[in-house]
Amino acid sequence: MSSGRISKLAGLLLACAAAGCATGASAETNLKVFVTSQGQPAIWRTLLDQYEARNPGIKVSVELGGTTSDMQAQYLNTVLTAKDSSLDVLMLDVIRPAQFAAAGWTSPIATDMSAYLRAYAEANTIDGKVVALPAFADSMFLYYRKDLLDKYGLQPPKTWDELADAAKKVADGEKNPNLQGLSFQGKAIEGAVCTFLVPYWSQGKVVTKDGKLDFDREAATKSLALWKGFADSGVAKKNIAEVATDDTRKEFQAGNVLFAVNWAYAWAMSQGAESAVSGKVGVARLPAIKGGEQATCLGGWEWGVSAFSKHQDEAKKLVEYLSSPEVSKYMAINGSLLPTYGKLYKDADVTKAVPWFADAQPIVETAKPRPVTPRYNEVSEVIRTTVNAVLAGATTPADGAAQIEARLKRIIR
Ligand code: GLC
Repeated sequence: MSSGRISKLAGLLLACAAAGCATGASAETNLKVFVTSQGQPAIWRTLLDQYEARNPGIKVSVELGGTTSDMQAQYLNTVLTAKDSSLDVLMLDVIRPAQFAAAGWTSPIATDMSAYLRAYAEANTIDGKVVALPAFADSMFLYYRKDLLDKYGLQPPKTWDELADAAKKVADGEKNPNLQGLSFQGKAIEGAVCTFLVPYWSQGKVVTKDGKLDFDREAATKSLALWKGFADSGVAKKNIAEVATDDTRKEFQAGNVLFAVNWAYAWAMSQGAESAVSGKVGVARLPAIKGGEQATCLGGWEWGVSAFSKHQDEAKKLVEYLSSPEVSKYMAINGSLLPTYGKLYKDADVTKAVPWFADAQPIVETAKPRPVTPRYNEVSEVIRTTVNAVLAGATTPADGAAQIEARLKRIIR
């Protein structure tokens, strides 16, 4: 063979290797999925293993996001601004689709959204296009120690004042310096945006109306003062400004918290082998500001296909599977992630595994969304850093409310 023909053959083989066209054996597609560490990643992995077994030729690897939603957003912003193609499928917090769609970072998915809970069909449809598919639903709940409330003849509180009274009664009786009355998120993380909004909304106020800022400074002051009051009176611990979502989960699970504000994922772990409170936990609606309504924050995560993925068809197929009723049911049963399909809330297998899901659908359906805007990152930053500053004692509730208003005015016009 002439050296010219040999180099031509070598060139062909190299091109083939680069394009993944294996000779003889069938080609393999490797997909990389970005998964939030807040959403039971190990359980998603078992489903991905099953998907690989059902789809020969597809291999799926997982990249785990940082411990908070805002850390994950920061990372994804860097990767996607660089048009990096290494991630094919992205698990996104429900507050992100508007920004990701505006930036052109996710590929539209042609699908019918009518079977999903309406909030998620809406959050993922931007300018008439479906930009991601629901992974799991979520909202904030009040976790409480059923055993301790029973011991003191108490009911789950319906107002924050009742909660403070109950916490005091239990603290006086238990005399346990390690028992916190209430744990919530005061660290400058995404969860603190909901910390601020829950009592704000409870007063019947909105943040935006018809896309314009409609801020109530008095309601904001009251919200910030409520949380600071819990820290000052000893219902919450002094360094609540350092507490992130998973800290609340761990401290509650260790038996050191009477009431906790948390998302649905915390349930499965509170019932696990490593929990000190298994069988002693109740879940209820979050309390209201006296005279107001019991409001909560809409959470949840979505599956998007990266616009830069080199495997668009395979990634969309995987996302459709991950968003299917079969998977939603599996994650509800095994990971206590709330279903994205209404019919699963009364499913006998689901309610057997997580009894309180039977009453959770109306709570999720009336949960309020955080402001929907492509500039959500900035909105979030303003709110969460101010909540944190107030709880750390660096700003008063009134000044904090004024700062939030002034800064939001420059973002939402
Ligand atoms: C939960 C929610 C998500 C929220 C986050 C904040 O994961 O599902 O929407 O932003 O908590 O910590």
